[in-house]
Amino acid sequence: EDVSLQGYQHYMLKEIFEQPESLRNAMRGRFDDENATSVFGGLNLTPQQMRGVRRIILTGCGTSWHSALVGEYLIEQYARLPVSVEYASELRYRNPPIENDTLVFGLTQSGETADTLAALLETKRKGHRTLAICNVIGSSIAQAADGGIYLHAGPEIGVASTKAYTSQCCVLAMLALHLGRLHNLSFEAGQQLISALKQAPGAVQEALHCNEQVRQVAAKYKDASNILYLGRQLNFPTALEGALKLKEISYIHAEGYPAAEMKHGPIALVDAQTPSVFIVPQGSTYEKVIANMEEVKARGGPIIAVASKDDPHVEAIADDVIHLPDVDPLIQPMVNVIPLQLFSYHIALMRGCDVDKPRNLAKSVTVE
Ligand code: G6P
Repeated sequence: EDVSLQGYQHYMLKEIFEQPESLRNAMRGRFDDENATSVFGGLNLTPQQMRGVRRIILTGCGTSWHSALVGEYLIEQYARLPVSVEYASELRYRNPPIENDTLVFGLTQSGETADTLAALLETKRKGHRTLAICNVIGSSIAQAADGGIYLHAGPEIGVASTKAYTSQCCVLAMLALHLGRLHNLSFEAGQQLISALKQAPGAVQEALHCNEQVRQVAAKYKDASNILYLGRQLNFPTALEGALKLKEISYIHAEGYPAAEMKHGPIALVDAQTPSVFIVPQGSTYEKVIANMEEVKARGGPIIAVASKDDPHVEAIADDVIHLPDVDPLIQPMVNVIPLQLFSYHIALMRGCDVDKPRNLAKSVTVE
């Protein structure tokens, strides 16, 4: 065990720090620079078939469902194709209308999640083409699907998913580029997205430098009973994922919410004992999120902000600011989640929790 931990105290920490490498592996050999697009060997679809796709369904469970939400945003933004995200456990029984030109993707680290497998088999039975975005090669879901994309993230042992999540975000960003280039995305725009994607491993490496600062912030808030995670647009799935990580391994109740939706309920929870984590990088809704932060501050809630480097506005409002590199929106989900993974890790450790094997949870849920 010690050998594979490679000096790290836990698999989760090792896997968090492996992310620059796992992202490189997700992208390796998958760019076609001449055509400013990405290529996937295993989709088993011709460019004509791929171009004929009019709608995408993304399904999965847990953290994989969060990456699906990231995929929804990116594919709609860059490929202008409508995307629906479904909990696999709901999709398998819901019987929604699915048109012939819809492509169904199952997202899964393990490839063994019973609900995701059942949802894919049910859509396949109805004659739809089903694909997998999966980490474990040769797993049940990889075999059941008509094709797919492997993450190549390497074994993920910690029960709380970390590197598989960022690799899913990466593959979905590449898929958005691929679909975009079959539709409206120009050659130049394709080149820009490739260059942004290639910056992801370096930006994640830089984000990992916040580890010691995050540990100090974690020490300050480790005794909280409730923590809110708030972000907008592309940062909303990041808020959900941050909250899930904290619940999973530290057993602190946490909720992820779209920051503006907070005023319709969660703001009632805000008091001096309930910190809010705001994900507030530069971008389209930046000023709106700042306004949401002011609302929390006015009610006496402590604020931890995950923000772009050198942001005096956020500094002036938040109690603690974790600074991240300012990156293209396409790769923000991979970068912005890093301090949230580390935050949950340090809090869990300080509370004496079993980080790699949290109570009541399993790495892959093979029963319904
Ligand atoms: C379990 C794990 C989660 C994971 C989910 C989906 O609940 O504890 O970390 O996100 O299953 O797993 P999958 O392997 O399908 O991505």
